[in-house]
This record gives sequence, structure tokens and C-alpha cells, in this order.
Amino acid sequence: MQKIEWSDEVYGLGIKRIDDQHKQLLNLINALSQIGQSDKPVDPEFVKKVVNTLVDYTKNHFADEEKLLKRLHYPDYPNHSLAHRRFISQVEEFRDAFQNSPDSKVLTNKIATFLSDWLTRHILVEDKEYVKYMFSGSGPI
Ligand SMILES: [Fe+2]
Ligand SMILES: [Fe+2]
Repeated sequence: MQKIEWSDEVYGLGIKRIDDQHKQLLNLINALSQIGQSDKPVDPEFVKKVVNTLVDYTKNHFADEEKLLKRLHYPDYPNHSLAHRRFISQVEEFRDAFQNSPDSKVLTNKIATFLSDWLTRHILVEDKEYVKYMFSGSGPI
């Protein structure tokens, strides 16, 4: 996959705390994709550690975002948080696949591509949707 370049125009939501977290997540995904694309053999233990960091960081980000959505009484909260849950279990499945992966390079690339596709789409579509609501004046703040 191609390195994802952060740009405020494309990915920025205008909420600094959330934008910083998204940036950090994209950095971690870029790092994972670099491991998958390097000439050196992939160390499955190391990749597992990177993916674990990503899972932890993503969980924290989702918790933070969900707190904000609750505070906003965001009507689509159930769907949004369900999408978060599904994503986490999918990534955990990938991570567990490393347990007995004969070709960890293919798997590393697969994970990096999945993460990058999902996250960029989620920011551009679902996250931007709550920002629209937030600034539409229909919310309580
Ligand atoms: Fe997000
Ligand atoms: Fe989200």
C-alpha cells in the first residue's frame, strides 16, 4: 500500500485532539506497511507487538471519540460505536493469525492495507458525519 500522507484539507475534522489521534494512527499504519515492504524478512513477534500497540491506541481513540459522541447525544451513536467494535475484533483476528503464519510478510501487507483502507474511509465518511452534526446546530452544543 502507498504511504498515507496526512493533510488537514483531506482528513482534518477541525477537532485538534481527535485529529492528533488520527494522525498518530496513520503514522503507526505507515510504519507497519514499511515493515511489510522492506527487503528484510519479517519478524512475526515484532509485527505482533506493533499491531498490539495499534490495537491499544485505536481502543483509546475510539473510547475518546465515543465519549464525545455521547456528550453530543449523537443520534447515530449506536452504528458508529458498532463500527468501532467490529473493526477492533477484525484487527485482533489478524493479530492472532500471526500465531502460526508461514508467510508473515503477506499477512503484514494484508493488515496494513486493511487498516489503511478502513481507517481513511472511516475518517472521511463516518467521522466527518458526526462533525457535520456537531456544527449543524442540531446538537445541544
Ligand atoms: Fe476516529
Ligand atoms: Fe469513529
